Amino acid sequence: MATSSSLRDLTKMERIGAHSHIHGLGLDDSLEPRQTSQGMVGQVKARRAAGVILKMIQEGKIAGRAILMAGAPGTGKTAIAMGMAQSLGADVPFTMLAASEIFSLEMSKTEALTQAFRRSIGVRIKEESEIIEGEVVEIQIDRSTTGLGQKSGKLTLKTTEMETIYDLGAKMIDALNKEKVMAGDVITIDKASGRISKLGRSFTRARDYDAMGSDTKFVQCPEGELQKRKEVVHTVSLHEMDVINSRTQGFLALFSGDTGEIKSEVRDQINVKVTEWREEGKAEIVPGVLFIDEVHVLDIECFSFLNRALEDDMAPVVIMASNRGIARIRGTQYKSPHGLPVDLLDRLLIISTTAYSEDEVKQILTIRCEEEDVAMTEDAKDILTRIGMETSLRYAIHLITASSLVAKKRKATAVDVADIKRVYSLFLDEKRSVQMLKEYQSQYMYNEVDMDDREPAIVQHASAAAGSQMDTTA
Ligand SMILES: Nc1ncnc2c1ncn2[C@@H]1O[C@H](COP(=O)(O)OP(=O)(O)O)[C@@H](O)[C@H]1O
Ligand SMILES: [Mg+2]
Repeated sequence: MATSSSLRDLTKMERIGAHSHIHGLGLDDSLEPRQTSQGMVGQVKARRAAGVILKMIQEGKIAGRAILMAGAPGTGKTAIAMGMAQSLGADVPFTMLAASEIFSLEMSKTEALTQAFRRSIGVRIKEESEIIEGEVVEIQIDRSTTGLGQKSGKLTLKTTEMETIYDLGAKMIDALNKEKVMAGDVITIDKASGRISKLGRSFTRARDYDAMGSDTKFVQCPEGELQKRKEVVHTVSLHEMDVINSRTQGFLALFSGDTGEIKSEVRDQINVKVTEWREEGKAEIVPGVLFIDEVHVLDIECFSFLNRALEDDMAPVVIMASNRGIARIRGTQYKSPHGLPVDLLDRLLIISTTAYSEDEVKQILTIRCEEEDVAMTEDAKDILTRIGMETSLRYAIHLITASSLVAKKRKATAVDVADIKRVYSLFLDEKRSVQMLKEYQSQYMYNEVDMDDREPAIVQHASAAAGSQMDTTA
């Protein structure tokens, strides 16, 4: 039922995933980023900007806005998005999508995007349910002497004003037993589902305190009628409503994830229904967040779909991330900043992330060491930081666990400089790998890199890494 919980659970299960050290954006109450907080280090400007967006989302004020996080690889774009996801309220949906996920044979690209959009819109539905709330005066259960046959019994409940005796069936007796309900407890029974919950012990029984132990909660005996109406609120996403109401699929598809394409009539019906509920005050829309990582992988058809979809009055906040410079827009021959068409760029607020300083890299590495449960000497951290600065942050992060395995092999308790050196020589980073290719390229298969065919960002990257020599050999 809960919309965002499935995603949250997944991130929780990701034991030491790439971003498991991130617990939020690390902002203080006035939305100022702390230098290091909640696993986040530096990147202060981008975090401040993300904090402002977050605030707007939490207030439910904006919908259909789009933000682009632009920056070089490994500058924390995905990390900031994860931080935002963790700071959102429990019932604000957050959907994460790698742009390549939408290229599937089972459904069209636009269908996949539509589903992602609708997953990111929550509908908060208010329902009134009838409950019985009172203090248990007496539970009387009649057991047949054989132990067979139907159990039956009586439950006496009271409020400050009235007292009523209810007949109990076998199911209710089991439920009462399971909750260990006794005389003197204050309980609620949901009339529709029969679910029993214990609120605490009645104050009138406070003199039993010694017998009950110190963790007992005491509550007032309820006032007024035994039967009450209570408002329950739960949030589902538009997509979940689509799936449940799509006749060919049914709600089982929610569990298998095998939803297929959903007919547009179904969506129209849901939209009409939700609008009705909103007018009647039964439901409200909770615009969530759709995060599209590596957005430059989308093609021109998807971009024009996005342009249109962002104008819908039930659109979520879309956050995109791209690490491209001036790059070709997929599906066209045109080059454009970040690999996105200019008309889409025009709708975006751009947050840029910048390279980390040496201190920041060291701090991130320290946090990752803790997260991966690796003890490392100060000297080793310094050298790993240098490696991080000269190669990439990701490469340095990857060396942490590898070096701890090497350290373990020599039965050391902490990773030292020698271990880092060892793994550094075992695993090549991108620059040394290119160097290697340059030296031995004649021995590899398909050695026919034509630089002109490749996208500019990669060419720049590779040629910068390989030096000018590579260009002449290609
Ligand atoms: N400011 C930061 N604080 C803490 N960890 C970070 C920060 N920036 C990046 N990282 C970590 O560094 C790694 C690479 O960052 P990532 O967000 O994946 O880069 P990008 O998405 O920009 O390519 C990830 O493991 C990420 O969690
Ligand atoms: Mg990323």
